Order: sequence, then structure tokens, then C-alpha cells
Amino acid sequence: MTEIADPLAELTPEALRAHVATELTRSRARSTALTEAVDEADLIRQHSPLMSPLVWDLAHIGSQEELWLVRDVGGREPLRPEIDGLYDAFQHTRASRVQLPLLTPAETRRYVAEVREKALEALEHSPLRGRRLEEHAFAFGMIVQHEQQHDETMLATHQLRAGSPVLHAEPPPAVPVGGAAVPVPAEVLVPAGAFSMGTSTEPWALDNERPAHQVELPAFVIDAAPVTNGQYVEFLDAGGYDEPRWWSEAGWRHRVEAGLTAPQFWEADAGGQWWRRRFGVLEPVHPAEPVVHVCFHEAAAYAAWAGKRLPTEAEWEKAARWDPASRRSRRYPWGDEDPTPEHANLGQRHLGPAPVGAYPKGASALGVHQLIGDVWEWTSSGWYPYPGFQMFPYPEYSEVFFGGDYRVLRGGSFGADPAAVRATFRNWDHPIRRQIFSGFRCARDATPAELRDGPVR
Ligand SMILES: [Fe+2]
Repeated sequence: MTEIADPLAELTPEALRAHVATELTRSRARSTALTEAVDEADLIRQHSPLMSPLVWDLAHIGSQEELWLVRDVGGREPLRPEIDGLYDAFQHTRASRVQLPLLTPAETRRYVAEVREKALEALEHSPLRGRRLEEHAFAFGMIVQHEQQHDETMLATHQLRAGSPVLHAEPPPAVPVGGAAVPVPAEVLVPAGAFSMGTSTEPWALDNERPAHQVELPAFVIDAAPVTNGQYVEFLDAGGYDEPRWWSEAGWRHRVEAGLTAPQFWEADAGGQWWRRRFGVLEPVHPAEPVVHVCFHEAAAYAAWAGKRLPTEAEWEKAARWDPASRRSRRYPWGDEDPTPEHANLGQRHLGPAPVGAYPKGASALGVHQLIGDVWEWTSSGWYPYPGFQMFPYPEYSEVFFGGDYRVLRGGSFGADPAAVRATFRNWDHPIRRQIFSGFRCARDATPAELRDGPVR
């Protein structure tokens, strides 16, 4: 089984520089839009103890960029060494950041602009090869992804913000993008066998996605699409939140203590219709859209009620990448080409997930839909390194989080940028978190009859 070629290897240094500059500019445009959409008071306010003030995220984006691109790659003196500690995510909890003597919004904007200017100088001067940090512009790719990840975090802060709507976008596609509707089956059988998980060649893949390694899995069945609001309402109507038997012990304890009764941001009217508040807009819950803002415990309880379970991380990745015809793992479900708007709902083009079936061209070789984009998908797997893991370039990216009570999420949401999502990309969070754009799909073991008769439809 072979791994795919490095997609940046063919680029000349000039083309690679242009690519990096485009990506840096794109991420900055998004950060700017997210922070200019609100007034000064909203930038410095704590919208939720789970989130930083927006102005902290923006300065932290600049601080990380300064650390890696200006000081390390560029070899320049610190611009503002006195603020390093303020924007070190490990020194201050999100809840406490609002009390720090943070830069004002105007100072923050000046700071990030100054850093960017110097980062672009570093891009001009770096050979983009030699040192591993600079090879294929890795440090630049890491910083692009870091900014996009914080943009998604800022988007989640916007979702928690009270007040009238300030973000606007086209609604998600109501009909399949770029072609005729294909029926989305309920489930897909993934045949037994080994596949290549993770990557050793994707140039901007982070340390936790490496290295590529063989994983042997028995046959399993996975939902062909994320669980929808309509399906989730059936669980609610069946009294799923009142039945401890569907919940793990920790899950039930959390359900009771936190008073969970439905996905976050949902409310029922007197007639029993569910409504949800999304970026300040109250609208009826759309039955065909993937459910979002559920925690791991809710996802696992739904799966148990449905007679299924959550997929493991390896199962998710095999369903996404394994191509039985070529007998190799793809970069993305649809192939090796970068995501386009025909493949997946990514990059905050829309302010919510798209209905199931919206992206037939994004389906995997095995016929599994909407693995990339729409909603992050909870898996049953804890957060552990792959065999052969090597920390790079700093332990606080992923290594210090290994173990703990985290669960892995895969696939990216409508708020994740294409630069920060791959079929190998791994996200992780506490099982009680649901302010993130998290949903799920279910899986189960294949039955003897399915193993005998082939794919289920
Ligand atoms: Fe960060």
C-alpha cells in the first residue's frame, strides 16, 4: 500500500512563497472580519467563561506568529517581549483572560499588522528548505492553521454572544451542489482489512497526524451521513434524556448536573416545535441538517439508543480514506485534490451545516457522505499518539494533552477552513464540551449476514 505524493513538492520556491502569502492573507481577512463585526465593548467582553475575549484571540494569533515566523524563522528580536506571557495559552485559563491587562483593540490591531509585515519579510528570506521547520514552509503552514483554528474558536464565541446578528452568509445549499441528487444510504459496510492511517508525506500535517502506519480493522458498518436533527428529535421524543440506560455513568452524571435536555441553543415552543438560536437568529430546527452542539456524552447516548455506538477514530479514517479500487488511503474522501465548494461545507462560507446529501461529489470511495465539513464528529477514541509519534515542533501543540479525558473529533465543521482540515486531521476536546460545532455519526459491528451478503444499503 503506497502513500500519496507530497502535494507541495512540485512547487518552485517562488510558487510556494506565493501559496503561503495567499493563505496568510486569507486567514487574516477572516480574523479581521470576525473582529470588525462587533464593537469595542464586544471585543473585550467575556461572552462565556469557556471562551477568551475576542481581542485576546486576535493578539494571541499575532503572538504565535511572532514567536515562530518573526523570531524563529526570521531571526528577529522580539517586538514586544513584555506581552508574551499575557498571550501564552498555558499561563492563563480562558475564564481568567478577561482580567489581564490586555492590549486594547487598537493596540492589538497595530501589533498583529506589525507582526505580519515582519512575517512576510521572513517568508521572502527563508529558503523554505533545510531546517525541518522551514522545509515546505512548514512553520508558515502551522501558523496559517493556527490562525484558522482560532478563527473557528472566535466563530464559536460569536455563537455564544448575546445580541442581534452581526455575521451574515449565504444559507447552506438546499439542493445537492454541482449535480444531481444521489440517494444517501443509511449505512455503509466497510470491509475488513488493513489500511494506512495518518500521514508521513502531507507537508503541513501536524505532529499528531504522523506517522503513516498500518491499522487492521474487522468489518464494520458506519452511517453514510452525520446524524440529523430529525433523527435526534426522535431520541428526544423517545425520552432519551430521561433514561439513564442509554448513558454512560459519567455521561448520566453530567446530564443531570448540567441539566442537559436538548442540544445547546435549542428551545421548544408550546406546540412542541424545536427552535435554535444561531448567531443571533432564531429559526426552526431543520430536520435534514446534521445535529450540532452536542457533547460526546449526548452523542454516545443517542448511539446506544439507536442500537449502535460511535465509530473509533480508526474506523472514521478508514471510512473516509480507504479506496478499495486502488488499495490505498486518499488525502480526502473524494480523492487527493484540495477541497472545493463542491466537495464540502468548509471555511465559514455558510453559518451552519448543510442538509444531508448536499455534497455528493464529496463522498468517499466507499460512499460515505459529508465526512469533511458541516460538523466535527465525535469518535469513541481517547487522545493518544500514533505509534512512532515524534513531538514537533513544540510539546504544547499536542503532546501535553495526550491521555486525560479527551475524545477525538474528526472531519472539521462549516467553520473550519480547508487549510486546517484533512482526512488525517485530529481534533480533541473534553467529552462535556458542546459550544464547539460538534455532531456525530454512528457505527456498529457488521452482522454475520452482512459479512456474507456484502454491502448494506
Ligand atoms: Fe493558540
